[in-house]
Amino acid sequence: MPDLTRRRVLGIGGALGAMAATGLTVGAVLSRSPAATGAELRSAVPLPPPFKVPLPIPAVLKPVSTSGRADRYEIVQREATAEILPGVRTRLWTYGGTFPGPTIESRRGRPVTVSHRNELPVPTVVHLHGGRTPAASDGYPTDLVLPAGWGGQEGGHGGGHGGGHGSGHGGMHDPQAVTTDLSRDYTFPLEQRPTLLWYHDHRMDFTAPAIWRGLAGMHIVRDDAEEALGLPSGPRELPLMITDRAFAADGSLDYPSLDPTLRERPGVQEPYLAGVLGDVILVNGAPWPVHEVDAARYRLRLLNASNARHYELAFVDEGDGRTIEFTQIGADQGLLAAPVKHSALPVAPAERYDLVVDFSRFPVGTLVKLVNRMGSGRTSEVMAFRVVRKAADDSRVPTRLSTDLPTWRRSDAVRVRDFSFRAGRMGEDSTHGWLIGGKPFDPARSDVTVRLGDVEIWRLVADVHHPVHLHLTGFRILSRGTKDPLPHDGGLKDTISLRPGESAELITRWEGYRGRYLFHCHNAEHEDMGMMANLQVT
Ligand code: C2O
Ligand code: CU
Ligand code: CU
Repeated sequence: MPDLTRRRVLGIGGALGAMAATGLTVGAVLSRSPAATGAELRSAVPLPPPFKVPLPIPAVLKPVSTSGRADRYEIVQREATAEILPGVRTRLWTYGGTFPGPTIESRRGRPVTVSHRNELPVPTVVHLHGGRTPAASDGYPTDLVLPAGWGGQEGGHGGGHGGGHGSGHGGMHDPQAVTTDLSRDYTFPLEQRPTLLWYHDHRMDFTAPAIWRGLAGMHIVRDDAEEALGLPSGPRELPLMITDRAFAADGSLDYPSLDPTLRERPGVQEPYLAGVLGDVILVNGAPWPVHEVDAARYRLRLLNASNARHYELAFVDEGDGRTIEFTQIGADQGLLAAPVKHSALPVAPAERYDLVVDFSRFPVGTLVKLVNRMGSGRTSEVMAFRVVRKAADDSRVPTRLSTDLPTWRRSDAVRVRDFSFRAGRMGEDSTHGWLIGGKPFDPARSDVTVRLGDVEIWRLVADVHHPVHLHLTGFRILSRGTKDPLPHDGGLKDTISLRPGESAELITRWEGYRGRYLFHCHNAEHEDMGMMANLQVT
């Protein structure tokens, strides 16, 4: 339990107050670009012009077997080389040889087992983000899959022996860690609402650079009810993983790790403590791609898989510069009750939005740009759609999308908890960190214990931008500060974007499984530098 009272949590006046109070050097870094929460790397290779590279669609992974209780998949985690920028070869860490990794397509309630084999040079662990997953398969950050020959390499990090776990701030040891050699099976029951999930690395202290190098892929859950709605489908349904990256002179991905081998010492260089931003925007691994579309409705399933970059997305007709209205049909955890129209959409790291865009009102030849109003220069553009042909369209967006959204009320809550998300100092050497309730992550400490079946309200407060993610459960946003939720806050969420100085209230019911879970900031650099806590479900 955090020892903060509501008065103390809400008492400090936002980001500036927090910085003044802590007197951190990072304060200067943050105040230089308070809107971005992070510092941008500059690529050292020439960047391609926008809207030339075709949009790739990640391959859908074929199961190795579909008989028996679960569909079974196999993924080998390995290094690979890809041509991300035209003419430039880039080394990646991949799921199955590609970035993004292959997409897994699954049905609600039909269990999926994914066997991951680690052929990378460091330990890894996979988390299915947004999955309602038993703890043993949830990818706890110390449940590592060790690569061949890893044993004994963690010398110098006291407490690292025995469990196969070593790396950690101050040499933390986690007696509960379950490590395996070479491979591990993750089983996902997928008893949950259909939605776009994503899988990514979750290794303690090293998640940010591992995702940056390419360890991320998408996982779609479907069901009959959703398919009966008549939403755009087939080639008119596009999963879009948006990431930012930067490239070094030799074509490799640039990242300011203190230890570029990612073997021992976690962390990033000082200017990047608030987050690592790239100057190249990739969609499905391609720089500022273009996709040819029919003059028809499209369903766009957006995921912001960037480490730290927030986007404010809008669709613009390149011809007349006008902003195009679009329809939100879903959030992180599936369909909304009813569609909502937007002209712009803020998207924080790890959030997903399900959108329908109608290209039918544009003449053939129109270029519709997806822009980022929070970017500047090249990062203010994301991708484009070129309307290339007239076409029939029997898709629809029903006025009622779902009827199964939880309707928890304040009076259902048996408990209210408060958590602050702020900069602070951590570890024996008192280095900069990011803290929840004043504490950096410690896998051996128990932070929050909840009871299966209980409804709780969580009140969160942030100094700078913190996209806060809860494992296991979906939640609804009750309020932001003293105001109602924002227009895009509807539906069931698993990640909430707290803005600088903002507080918010969530309501959730603990459902699914008992065991050890997590909640954390999904700015991946913050996550690696302490902003994570344990959630024990009993
Ligand atoms: Cu997407 Cu705990 O993470
Ligand atoms: Cu998650
Ligand atoms: Cu954060």
